[in-house]
Amino acid sequence: MNKSVAQKRADELRRLLEHHNYRYYVLDDPEVPDAEYDRLIRELESLESTYPDLVTPDSPTQRVSGTPMEGFATIQHRVPMLSLGNAFSETEVAEFCRRVSQGLEREDIIFAAEPKLDGVAISLTYVQGLLTTAATRGDGERGEDVTANVRTIRAVPLKLLGDGWPALLEVRGEIYMPRSGFDAFNRKALANGEKPLVNPRNGAAGSLRQLDPQLTAQRPLAFYAYSTATRDQLPDTQLDTLERLKDWGIPVNPEVRRVQGLAGCLDYHRRIGLLRPTLGYDIDGVVYKVDRFDQQGFLGFVSKAPRWALAHKFPAEEEITRLVDIDIQVGRTGALTPVARLAPVFVGGVTVTNATLHNEDEIRRKDVRPGDWVVVRRAGDVIPEVARAIHERREGTLAEFQMPEVCPECGSRVERVEGEAVARCSGGLVCPAQRKHSIRHFATRKAMDIEGLGDKLVDQLVEEGLIHTVADLYHLSHEQLTALDRMGGKSAENLLKALEKSKTPPLNRLLYALGIREVGEVTAHSLAAHFGTMEALQDASVETLTEVSDVGPIVAAHVAAFFQQEHNRQVIQALSDAGVKWQALETQVGEQPLAGEIWVLTGALSMPRIQVKNLLESLGAKVTGSVSAKTTTLLAGEAAGSKLKKAEKLGIKIISESDFVDYVGSHGLSV
Ligand code: IVH
Repeated sequence: MNKSVAQKRADELRRLLEHHNYRYYVLDDPEVPDAEYDRLIRELESLESTYPDLVTPDSPTQRVSGTPMEGFATIQHRVPMLSLGNAFSETEVAEFCRRVSQGLEREDIIFAAEPKLDGVAISLTYVQGLLTTAATRGDGERGEDVTANVRTIRAVPLKLLGDGWPALLEVRGEIYMPRSGFDAFNRKALANGEKPLVNPRNGAAGSLRQLDPQLTAQRPLAFYAYSTATRDQLPDTQLDTLERLKDWGIPVNPEVRRVQGLAGCLDYHRRIGLLRPTLGYDIDGVVYKVDRFDQQGFLGFVSKAPRWALAHKFPAEEEITRLVDIDIQVGRTGALTPVARLAPVFVGGVTVTNATLHNEDEIRRKDVRPGDWVVVRRAGDVIPEVARAIHERREGTLAEFQMPEVCPECGSRVERVEGEAVARCSGGLVCPAQRKHSIRHFATRKAMDIEGLGDKLVDQLVEEGLIHTVADLYHLSHEQLTALDRMGGKSAENLLKALEKSKTPPLNRLLYALGIREVGEVTAHSLAAHFGTMEALQDASVETLTEVSDVGPIVAAHVAAFFQQEHNRQVIQALSDAGVKWQALETQVGEQPLAGEIWVLTGALSMPRIQVKNLLESLGAKVTGSVSAKTTTLLAGEAAGSKLKKAEKLGIKIISESDFVDYVGSHGLSV
C-alpha cells in the first residue's frame, strides 16, 4: 500500500474507531462485537508502524504512552472543584427545596436529577477539541495531573466529535469501575494469587494513580460527565449542557432527568433506589441541581458548596461492627456455611446481626477471626456479608476459625471434595437440618405450594418424628396435627386440604420440589419438557441428560446421581403410593408457546439477563443481541435506549418486564 492510500485508510479507521467508541460508551449500544473493534485497531496499528509519520496524537492507538511517570505534577484548577451538601432524609431534602424556592421566589423549581456516582472526580480540559489535561480533584484548588492515565480510558474521547465545540472546554465528571469489570478483575487477581481490589471505588482511585499508564490501561475504567467548568458555547441549563456533551462524544449517565419540585426529587430518589442493584456500577445517592444556570448564579455558594445543588444519599451499604462469633449453618444440600454473629449494626437501611462468611477459604483469605472489627456490606436486597476485617484494629491475639470435623446438627463426618470450596455434612437425610430444609423447600410456593406448611411447622413435625421424608406429609392425620403446639382444628383442616390440593403438580414443579442439586426452576422445566415423564428421566444417562438445553455435565451428573440413590427412588415411589400424581408439563415438547419467535432484551431488567434468556429458550424462543427485521418481540426494561427506538420504528412487538412476568406466570413458570 502506498503512503497516500495508507493515509486515507488510517483516517477512515480512526473515524470508524471513534464512531464505535461513541456507540459503545455514549449510546451504550455497540454496533459491532469487541473482536471487530480489536481488528480495526490492529489494522490501524499496523499501518502506523509501517508509516510512523502518519501517527497523530489523538489516534486511538495512542492511548497508552510508553514511559512511566515519576510522581504526578500538580495542576491548578481554573475553577475550583467544589463539594456538595449532603442529605440523608426527606426532611432535609424538603428543607433544601424550601430554601431554593425562597431564594428564587418561586415554587416548583425545575431540577436536573442525576445518579451520584461512587468513583473519582476528574476534570478534563479540551483545547481545540483535543484532550490536553486530566486532573484529579486534589484539595479542590489543585489536583494531580493524571493525563497519561486518563488517556487510556476508552470512554474518554481523545478528540471531540462533531463541531460547534468551544476553543476551550473543561468537562467535570466521574471515573468509575463498572461492577462487571471489578468482578472480572478480582477473579483474575485471586486466580493469580494477587491482592484483589477492595471495592470498585478504591479500584478506580488506585488505577488512576498508577505511575505506569500501561497498568491503568489494563484496569476496566469508565467515565460519565456531570458538569462543565467553562460556559462558552454551551446551552443555559444543566440538562441541555449534558445533551450537548453527548453530541461531542462525551458519555453522560442515561438516568439523568428533569424533575419538578420536592415531589419530583423524592420520586426520582425512590426510582433510582429501585434501579440501583441493576445499574452495573456503584452509586451512593442522587444529586439534585437547579437546572437553569441563571438561577444557579442567583443562588450562589456557601463556603465550598453550591446553594443550588444537594446530594441525597442512600443509606450506607458498608458499616463497621464487631464480629462476636462464627456459627455453622447446615443447608438443604448439607453445605456448611459459616455465619457471622455480629454486634447489631444499621447498614443498607436495616439492622443486621447475622452475615454470611461464604466458606472456609473466604475466611482464610480475608483472615477474619471472632473478636475482629469487620466491614459488613448489605447492597440492595442481597444477603449481608462480611466484606473484610480491619486488621489494624485487632487487639491481642485472636484464635483462627476452624471448620468443624463433624456436622454440628447430626454428628456425621464433614467432607470437602478436592477443588470445591464448600464443606458438606455427609449425613444426607439422616441429618435433621438437611431433612428440615428439604421438606421446607418442597412446600414452598414455587415448588409444591403447600399453603400453611411453614418453616416452624416443618421443624416441629421433624422433631416430633412425625415425618422423615416429604412423602410422609401425605400420611399426616387430623389427630396428629391438632396434637401439635399452636395447631387448632381449623388450621389442621386447612393444611390437610392444602396437601390434598398439591397432589397433582406439573412434572416440572415436582422435579424442582425434590431439591436435586443445581436443578432450579428453569432447569426443572427443561428436564420435564425434554423427557416428558419421570420414568424416562429416572433412567436417563449422564450423556442423554446433557442433550437437554442448559444442562451441562455438572448438572447432568447431579441429576443422574440423585436418581441412582435408592432412597430417592423410594421417596418418589412413596409419593406416588400416597396419591401424588404428577401431570405432564403444561407446555409439551414440540408445542412450545414461543417456538419460532426471536426475542431481544434491552434496558435495565430487575432479574439477571441469563435467567430471562433461559426462560425464553425453555418456552421455545430464540434470543439474539440486536434488533432487526427478523425480531418478533422486544423485552424492554427501564431506560431502554436505541434498541427500543429501532423496534418502534420497525413496528416490532414491545413488552414490558411486568407483562413478561405475567406471561411467563401463565405458563406455569415463575421468574
Ligand atoms: S456535581 C458543584 N454531580 O460527588 C457540584 N457530583 O461531593 C460538584 N459526584 O467528588 C459536583 N456524581 O465527583 C456532581 N452527578 C454528579 C455526581 C457528583 C458523583 C461526586 C463528585 C464529587 C462529589 C461531590
